[in-house]
Amino acid sequence: MLNCAVLGATGYTGAELTKLLLAHPHVRVSLLTTRQEKPIALREVLPSVAKDIKLEITPYSFDAVKKKADVVFLCLPHTEAMAAAEQLLAAGKIVIDLSADFRLRDRKIYEKWYGVNHVAPQYLSKAVYGLCEVYREQIKKADLIANPGCYPTGPSLALIPLLKKKLIDFRSIIINAASGVSGAGKKLATTTHFCEASENYSAYKVNRHQHTPEIEQTLSAAAGKPVKITFVPHLLPVNRGILATIYAQKTAKTTEDGIRKTLERAYQQAPFVRVKPAGQYPSLKDVQHTNFCDIGVSVQKETGRVVIITAIDNLLKGAAGQAVQNMNLRFGFPEEAGLL
Ligand SMILES: NC(=O)c1ccc[n+]([C@@H]2O[C@H](COP(=O)([O-])OP(=O)(O)OC[C@H]3O[C@@H](n4cnc5c(N)ncnc54)[C@H](OP(=O)(O)O)[C@@H]3O)[C@@H](O)[C@H]2O)c1
Repeated sequence: MLNCAVLGATGYTGAELTKLLLAHPHVRVSLLTTRQEKPIALREVLPSVAKDIKLEITPYSFDAVKKKADVVFLCLPHTEAMAAAEQLLAAGKIVIDLSADFRLRDRKIYEKWYGVNHVAPQYLSKAVYGLCEVYREQIKKADLIANPGCYPTGPSLALIPLLKKKLIDFRSIIINAASGVSGAGKKLATTTHFCEASENYSAYKVNRHQHTPEIEQTLSAAAGKPVKITFVPHLLPVNRGILATIYAQKTAKTTEDGIRKTLERAYQQAPFVRVKPAGQYPSLKDVQHTNFCDIGVSVQKETGRVVIITAIDNLLKGAAGQAVQNMNLRFGFPEEAGLL
């Protein structure tokens, strides 16, 4: 059994991850930690756990993690994860970081978008971006896996095969995405307060959301040239899920069928990516509480515009589910273990 530690287990992704790990056939939850001073019964954070599970979330201690864990999941806020990662990697642990701290390869871009100095820049080039379906082989050998952001996951999966085959114009990409409120984490903020979010639908951080450079980095690697996107995030008054509507101009003589077939072929062996048949489109209800990414396609003949819709559960395929999928790949477990 592989021993797993979850740092930040009281948060939304930490709790979701703990739930998945407790049900996983090949791992043991050996440590759950918090910044708080006193231990917290897991049941207080995760009331759905079985009666006989007496686990506690205990104050963080590096020595305890060193002793008890083979793999460490960082469910900490971005800018808070990098120092912990550096210490744990030096101690020989495999680290799966759910924060953004090791997703960007260029230190200057990280520092510009996250507004802090990077304290472990030596690991930026060593980290493997944990988009499982695309970087499967690199993930199998990685010591540090940078789990992708919730917004980047769906659009990246949809656009990478199309950019690789040059089926869309790399200069024409617009991503409109709407996230459920859990995407903002558990901490309180005025914008995610019930009275502000409920019965509302609003755009935020237009052209300045920190996931923009992450998406651009991934798409540039696929296109083989620098890709710039327009990214407009929205807050949707549901608990969980992200639906992204992506627009791009088609190139050459591409057809809707050709685009769909390209996606189907790219994800033929991928258990968690489902390409919808013609005339059907993803919806949040189909993916909530699952690790699936659903993709739907339409091409407007008159304008040559490709419209792609993706849906994921931000806490699963966008965070904890993808983290478990990464662990499965890294440790040679079946990719679906604990996720279906
Ligand atoms: N929510 C999502 O949909 C989502 C998706 C993908 C990635 N992520 C990323 O995953 C990480 C965790 O996200 P989350 O949504 O689980 O956040 P969260 O609900 O706010 O939980 C983060 C946890 O980290 C701990 N923590 C340690 N240092 C902290 C600090 N200085 N300030 C605040 N909390 C601190 C807190 O636990 P204690 O107070 O018990 O220590 C808190 O419960 C973030 O980096 C986030 O960007 C989130």
